Amino acid sequence: MVRIVRATQVEIESAVQALRDGELVAFATETVYGLGANAQNPAAVAKIFAAKGRPPNHPVIVHLDSPRFLHRWVREVPEVAMRLAERFWPGPFTMVMPRAANVHDVITGGQDTIAIRVPAHPMAQQLLTAFGGGIAAPSANRYGRLSPTRAEHVREELGDAVRVILDGGECQIGLESTIVSFEGDGVRLLRPGSVTATQISAVVGELFSDDGRPVPRVPGSPPTHYAPTTHMTIVPAGEIDAQADAASSGGRRVAVLAQRLPLRAHKYATWINAGRRPENYGRDLYANLRTLDKAGCRRILVQAVPDGERWDAIRDRLVHAATSVAESDDGSGAMAVLP
Ligand code: TXA
Ligand code: MG
Repeated sequence: MVRIVRATQVEIESAVQALRDGELVAFATETVYGLGANAQNPAAVAKIFAAKGRPPNHPVIVHLDSPRFLHRWVREVPEVAMRLAERFWPGPFTMVMPRAANVHDVITGGQDTIAIRVPAHPMAQQLLTAFGGGIAAPSANRYGRLSPTRAEHVREELGDAVRVILDGGECQIGLESTIVSFEGDGVRLLRPGSVTATQISAVVGELFSDDGRPVPRVPGSPPTHYAPTTHMTIVPAGEIDAQADAASSGGRRVAVLAQRLPLRAHKYATWINAGRRPENYGRDLYANLRTLDKAGCRRILVQAVPDGERWDAIRDRLVHAATSVAESDDGSGAMAVLP
C-alpha cells in the first residue's frame, strides 16, 4: 500500500532508506511533485519509466541539494551555466549540460547531455541532503497526463507503484521548471517556466527558442501532453460565454476554465474562474483541470490567456494539453506557444 506522510524527520529517513533500497519516493518541489529514484541505480530509475508508462528514450532530470557535486554529473559546466546557477538555484530552473562519463544511459535517454535542477522547496532540500546523492525525478504523473501539485494527485496518478509519498502541501508555482540548454556561447530555452526569458536574458544576453529537433528532448512531440482525459479546446477570450452556450446546447454538460465570472448564468456549465493573475492561475492550473476533468462533461473549454511573457509557461502548457484551438470569427483565435 502506498503511504502519504507528512515530511517529519523520521519519514524523511524512511524515504531515504526506500531510495537506498531502489524504491520510488514521491516528493514535493515548488514546481510540481516529483517521482524520485536513486539516480545512481539504473534498476531503480527504470521503475520510474514503468510506473509512469513513459517511453524509455525520454531523459529525466537529476535533482541535487546544491551545485557542490555538480562535477559528478556534468563533464564540463559552461561558464554561463555557473552564472545562471548563481542567480536561479535553488529554484524552478533546470539546465541541460554535457553529461559526465559515468552517468547511466537510463537517465539521459542515451543523449550526451544531462538535465540538472536544484529545487528550493524545503522538503526537497531536506530529502536531497539526507540522501546525499542525486535523485532522478520526472513529474509524478502517468505519461502525458496532468502534473501533480498535491500529494493526493500523486496517489490518483500512480497508486501503489510508489512506496512513499512525502506530503509537502500544495506546490507554490504549480508549473514545471524552466529548462535551458547550451550551444557554444548560446543559451536555448527548451521549456518556459516561472523563470522567464527576460530574467535569463538579463544574466546571459540573447536567448534562443527551441528549434524543434527530431529527438524528443522536451514534452510536446506526442500529440497532447500535460493533458486531461476530456477533450479540451482553447477558445478566444471574448467568446467564452457564447462557446459555453453552444457547447451545452441540448443539455450537454460543459466545463469551463475562465479568467472571470460568467457574463450570464450557464445552466449546464461547471465554470472555474481562475483569475487574472498569472502566479495564481499557474499555481492552480493542474488542480483546476483535474477538477474539470472529473466533472462529467463532454468538453473542457479554456478561455485563451493574455499575450505577454508572464503567461508564456501557462500558454505553453495549455497548448500542449488542448486537443484543439477554436478559431475566432476574425480568425485570430489561436494562441502562439512562444513569441
Ligand atoms: O519542475 C520540474 O522540472 C519537475 C520537478 C519534479 O523537478 N520535473 C519535470 O520532469 O517536469 P519531467 O521529466 O516531467 O520533464 C522534464 C523534461 C523532460 O520532458 C525531458 O525530455 C527533459 O526535461 N529533459 C531531461 N533531460 C534532458 C536532456 N538531457 N536533454 C534535453 N531535455 C531533457
Ligand atoms: Mg512531466
